Amino acid sequence: MAIEIRQVTSPDSDPAGFEVLVAAYRADIAARDPGDPLPGHREVAGQLFGLPADRKRLVYGARLGGEPAGMACATAMSEAGDELQLAEVDVLVIPSQRRKGVATALIAEVVPALVELGQTSILAYPCADLWSEEGFALCEKYGLVRRQDERCSRARVADIDDNLMTSWIAEAATKAAGYRLEQWEGPCPEHLLPQWCAALAGMEDIPLDDIEYNPFTRSVDQQREAELALAARGFVSYCTMAVSATGEAAGMSELQLHPERPQIAHQSDTAVLRAHRGHGLGKWMKAANYRFARAAQPELDVIETENAQSNPWMLDINIAMGFRPHHVYVAHQAPIATALR
Ligand SMILES: CC(C)(COP(=O)(O)OP(=O)(O)OC[C@H]1O[C@@H](n2cnc3c(N)ncnc32)[C@H](O)[C@@H]1OP(=O)(O)O)[C@@H](O)C(=O)NCCC(=O)NCCS
Repeated sequence: MAIEIRQVTSPDSDPAGFEVLVAAYRADIAARDPGDPLPGHREVAGQLFGLPADRKRLVYGARLGGEPAGMACATAMSEAGDELQLAEVDVLVIPSQRRKGVATALIAEVVPALVELGQTSILAYPCADLWSEEGFALCEKYGLVRRQDERCSRARVADIDDNLMTSWIAEAATKAAGYRLEQWEGPCPEHLLPQWCAALAGMEDIPLDDIEYNPFTRSVDQQREAELALAARGFVSYCTMAVSATGEAAGMSELQLHPERPQIAHQSDTAVLRAHRGHGLGKWMKAANYRFARAAQPELDVIETENAQSNPWMLDINIAMGFRPHHVYVAHQAPIATALR
């Protein structure tokens, strides 16, 4: 049966192509997270296309015998001028369509297109507890090597102890005297953006193990563009930033969800800048941000997050809060020249 691969550049310009992506995306969630509500069209559009115009992402859908079969999404993670031009690649094939060469056909389009975009390295995250045989074999076939183990954890709102959250917030009065929190929903208010970018730079200290990555820094303009692009696709962010007595950014925590599926939130970055560690800011921000999001989203049921297995500091806070292991993803990476061969 013929495999047809088609690049989709936006949901609006190619509705039929977008339907293939939605089918693949939803089949993946149904298999990966059974019991979760399935994402709707707007959320899938946001996940795949909620990027600023200058951020390069290639999205392809695959059909087999005319039926949706899979998709690939490759995102350039680096800035112009970075020595390492890194692309994160995700390939998924609908379970009933596997072992028919669909992934191979998708990769045959994606990798040369990434070379044309000037990418030098590829990173992929097959799951270790679901489909590891096929996911790892696929990575190995293209020369990608294991670089880091990442734990995906989930906390159910019903399992988060409200008294514990109250105590983390109360402890700040003594442990973090002089610090204050700023909170907002949606894109960062303009007057806080420089501090917010400084707080986000705390993510530079996350353990990377053997992953080759570029330093994580974003200018105020880049951060604004990234937040506006996500908001334009309907995503809502709940953000908490810690600020020191002298007005310096000290830390940040952010949670995101799409209102089509308000039951499931993603805990994205949390960071405390080096000079401000040891004051309980991590726990304070997480408890306060969780309360903030929950008050705004009464249907919130599950929070999902990812951390390197080699990050006991963040894992300890998450476990204490009620997060439990859900999946393990294993970063695999190789120079793109290796994958091409
Ligand atoms: C991994 C996955 C994308 C493969 O899709 P597919 O269309 O079945 O793959 P193909 O038929 O094109 O096979 C490509 C290669 O994958 C590997 N592979 C696929 N299925 C496999 C299996 N059941 N056991 C072992 N290796 C397997 C092989 O290396 C195969 O090459 P070969 O045919 O020369 O042996 C699919 O199983 C999937 O969607 N898994 C979940 C998501 C995932 O893990 N993605 C990879 C991380 S980005």
